[in-house]
Amino acid sequence: MSLSTHTAAAAAPGGDTRPVVSLSGINKVFSNGTVALRDMSLDIAAGQFISLLGPSGCGKSTVLRLIAGLGDPTTGTIDWPGSPRDSDGQGSDSQGSDGQGSDGQGPDGREDHEIGFVFQEPTLMPWASVFKNVWLPLRLKGMSKSAARDRVMETLDLVDLAAFAEAYPRELSGGMKMRVSIARALVTRPKLLLMDEPFAALDEITRFKLNNDLLHLWESFGWTVIFVTHSVFESVYLSDRIVVMAARPGRVVADMAIDAPYPREDDFRTSTTYNDYCRLASNALAEAMNASEQS
Ligand SMILES: Nc1ncnc2c1ncn2[C@@H]1O[C@H](COP(=O)(O)OP(=O)(O)OP(=O)(O)O)[C@@H](O)[C@H]1O
Ligand SMILES: [Mg+2]
Repeated sequence: MSLSTHTAAAAAPGGDTRPVVSLSGINKVFSNGTVALRDMSLDIAAGQFISLLGPSGCGKSTVLRLIAGLGDPTTGTIDWPGSPRDSDGQGSDSQGSDGQGSDGQGPDGREDHEIGFVFQEPTLMPWASVFKNVWLPLRLKGMSKSAARDRVMETLDLVDLAAFAEAYPRELSGGMKMRVSIARALVTRPKLLLMDEPFAALDEITRFKLNNDLLHLWESFGWTVIFVTHSVFESVYLSDRIVVMAARPGRVVADMAIDAPYPREDDFRTSTTYNDYCRLASNALAEAMNASEQS
């Protein structure tokens, strides 16, 4: 067990070992001059469960947003090497204001990937039932309620909420609302799931349960997950790789493999392996905090 540069190459179905998404030399400078990310490079392999761990303001949400196409990097490229549009591995999908990139208007490799995004807040429509909240992404693609019914109900079943399809958000607990939000992200059957501190506001018992539910779904469906968290314990429990970031400017300071087998259940939380990795990740995070304070 060691803190090491992770060179993941999990094979996607069909033996394709190209990363799902590849960030290269990403800089993000906001218009007020904030350097949110500096020289960030990251290859994410198919099927990986990767956590971005770091102090507030280190650019975790910015990374997710750039990957989702909600904003462009200032410089650097985001490539989708496994996408048919990028089959030579040379194409670049976004490039910033250095004038060398695409204008962001045309189709790119990202569009070949269905991406699910779970935001920190459940952001449900309070006036709409659970069913209608989960139907929304399909409705935006033009799918009628009757055509979407089976898919929506199947997805609610995955998060154990089929019985609450006609309930309204105000009738649900915090954990149930978050599960609706996860169902809404899953209803389009994404292969890449971006999760921004989805369980941060929940009590520990609910959080542990949702951690287990998420791992079961990930193992069943073979998704690639990029998970943002402040919690060392959560990142070690869930991930096969943790990328630790420091702030001001946001950058990667450690990249560690969590080499413990799945399935992971509650007894993993009390194992020596888990505790050893938690210590390593805590130390890496403490160094990241120091690096952030000194910069
Ligand atoms: N739209 C914006 N305009 C200006 N600065 C921004 C914008 N969005 C983010 N920032 C800045 O970029 C930096 C990174 O922000 P980001 O939201 O990515 O951090 P984070 O790691 O997700 O933090 P937290 O853990 O608190 O959610 C911060 O300094 C933030 O103030
Ligand atoms: Mg954030």
